[in-house]
Amino acid sequence: MPNPTKIPKTLLTVNRVRDFNISDQGACLNIQRNTFPASQSSTDFAREIRKSNSIYLVAYFEHCSDQIDRTIKLNDYLCQCKTNTKNVSGFIGGWNVADEIQIVDFIVDEPFRGRGIGQLLLTSLIEVACSVKSKLITLEVRASNKPAINLYSRFGFKICGRRKNYYVNKTEDALLMNLEIN
Ligand SMILES: CC(C)(COP(=O)(O)OP(=O)(O)OC[C@H]1O[C@@H](n2cnc3c(N)ncnc32)[C@H](O)[C@@H]1OP(=O)(O)O)[C@@H](O)C(=O)NCCC(=O)NCCS
Repeated sequence: MPNPTKIPKTLLTVNRVRDFNISDQGACLNIQRNTFPASQSSTDFAREIRKSNSIYLVAYFEHCSDQIDRTIKLNDYLCQCKTNTKNVSGFIGGWNVADEIQIVDFIVDEPFRGRGIGQLLLTSLIEVACSVKSKLITLEVRASNKPAINLYSRFGFKICGRRKNYYVNKTEDALLMNLEIN
């Protein structure tokens, strides 16, 4: 009978978040261009990370394939397993002004959506917001962007305003959403 406490020798993918560094620039630009191919502008990541009030985080995944043949908790396993790839799957960026953080970039690469990476990034940004004692997180989102609005709502963001015809083609409103941090 198989020992249920043994972790099988399978490929395990784990998602993690860390601070953006300049070597992530290419991957993040690709993700941005793939997501918004019609956009004329892209983020100047090098400039962003030089700014003292910018907060940029990246999600990356690791494939772990080592078997550890003893009873351990999953977290122990993740700490010990050897990594053979590191790849960026998404990023989130915000500006910390006074006691507010404005989210200005938030994208998960299309093939990686619907796996909780967006939640992971948002959770991480909220943790940073708490650590710098922010009172509010703000953002703008297209009124038609249901996946993003659902995600923000699940985290407690509330719609607090609307900008009419806000986007370049002037056919769509932006919703303003806020999360108060106690
Ligand atoms: C908005 C965005 C960042 C969300 O990223 P994501 O990684 O897909 O988000 P999550 O996976 O955490 O959550 C999305 C959905 O997947 C579901 N999900 C999460 N983990 C899951 C899993 N393991 N299996 C299946 N579904 C899962 C969530 O419940 C959620 O479902 P819901 O929308 O029905 O509530 C992504 O859609 C994106 O990059 N969009 C384009 C850019 C954009 O619009 N950015 C926001 C600008 S304001």
